Amino acid sequence: MRLRIPAPFDPHVHLRDLDWSHKGTVASETAAALAGGYTALLDMPNTPPATTSPAALDAKRGRFQKTARCDWGLWFGAAQPGNQECYGDVQHRVCGLKIYNNETTGDLLIEDQELRDRIFAAWPTGKPLAVHAEGDTVADILQLVRRYRKHVHFCHISSARELGLLADAREEGLPLSIGVCPHHLFLTRDDLRALGPLGLMKPELKTAMDRDALRQALASGLVDVVESDHAPHTLAEKLSDEPAHGVPGLETTLPLLGQAAHEGWLEPDRIVELVSTSPRRLFGYPVPADSWTELDLKDRQVLDDGGLRTLCGWSPFSGMRVHGVVRQVTLRGKQVFDGEQVCAAPGSGLPLTQCIPRVDA
Ligand code: NCD
Ligand code: ZN
Ligand code: ZN
Repeated sequence: MRLRIPAPFDPHVHLRDLDWSHKGTVASETAAALAGGYTALLDMPNTPPATTSPAALDAKRGRFQKTARCDWGLWFGAAQPGNQECYGDVQHRVCGLKIYNNETTGDLLIEDQELRDRIFAAWPTGKPLAVHAEGDTVADILQLVRRYRKHVHFCHISSARELGLLADAREEGLPLSIGVCPHHLFLTRDDLRALGPLGLMKPELKTAMDRDALRQALASGLVDVVESDHAPHTLAEKLSDEPAHGVPGLETTLPLLGQAAHEGWLEPDRIVELVSTSPRRLFGYPVPADSWTELDLKDRQVLDDGGLRTLCGWSPFSGMRVHGVVRQVTLRGKQVFDGEQVCAAPGSGLPLTQCIPRVDA
């Protein structure tokens, strides 16, 4: 069976480039996106120079305009000691505001709840906030969602406990959405022995119980979005004494979701919602005309490093046998991936035009 997915959309990727072009470039990572079946993505602000000022935003936009092969939008980053004065200026050029509330790659950590409060207050309503929040921090952020009633997307939720907090908050009617990542759905801390530093990311891999709770929440509808959190680092950086956190994911996410359907814990219709309908509705990006991806749910492949387009050239899923192969991707009537070759030129991707997002909690 071939699943037809309208213009798959990943709201959480780190395409690097700029000062980190040794890890990946907009050109290389958007080729990875198309080969992975995605026609559009939203890029995170933590690659240096961080996207936390109008000048840094304009520099990044220039890079994407020249070299992106798929459609794109950019998250703006909240910064220490506070960059609220430029929110009014940048809001029309970004997809939303990202706040890093726990330690991770980059230097955008904001731990002071008072500063978080001022940031929440300052961000104009209408465009979403996205948060990196783990464990108890989820409860801290929920206080601010309750106070300001602005749409907050909780990125890469990874534990049963966090899901419990968010399920209660949704019950309460708070305007939130929830993303989970393929690595938390397919790997656990038991895999760390085999993966070593290739299994290190933030949030960390959890227990089989947490993984099963995520799968269940995906099927039930509590989780809104599957996001790859594509975060390439070089093999040398991963194998160093201080391994970088983050794993690539753009090329493996749809095949892994095909495998989830094969294993019977995810309906094909839910795949379409999780990677297209729901993120497009939440973040405000309608499906462009004549744009779809074919995911073969019958055919099998062994994921391996050799076939990857991402500049980092490795994957934590290499060696896995999955039922799920991306057969072709068509964007605005033009085939941009034919199952083997990416045939979209750098610069052919378009900046996404955002419509007012609708969040009914
Ligand atoms: C991400 C990165 O490398 O940019 N790393 C990660 O482990 N997920 C940052 C992030 O998403 O927190
Ligand atoms: Zn994060
Ligand atoms: Zn991330």
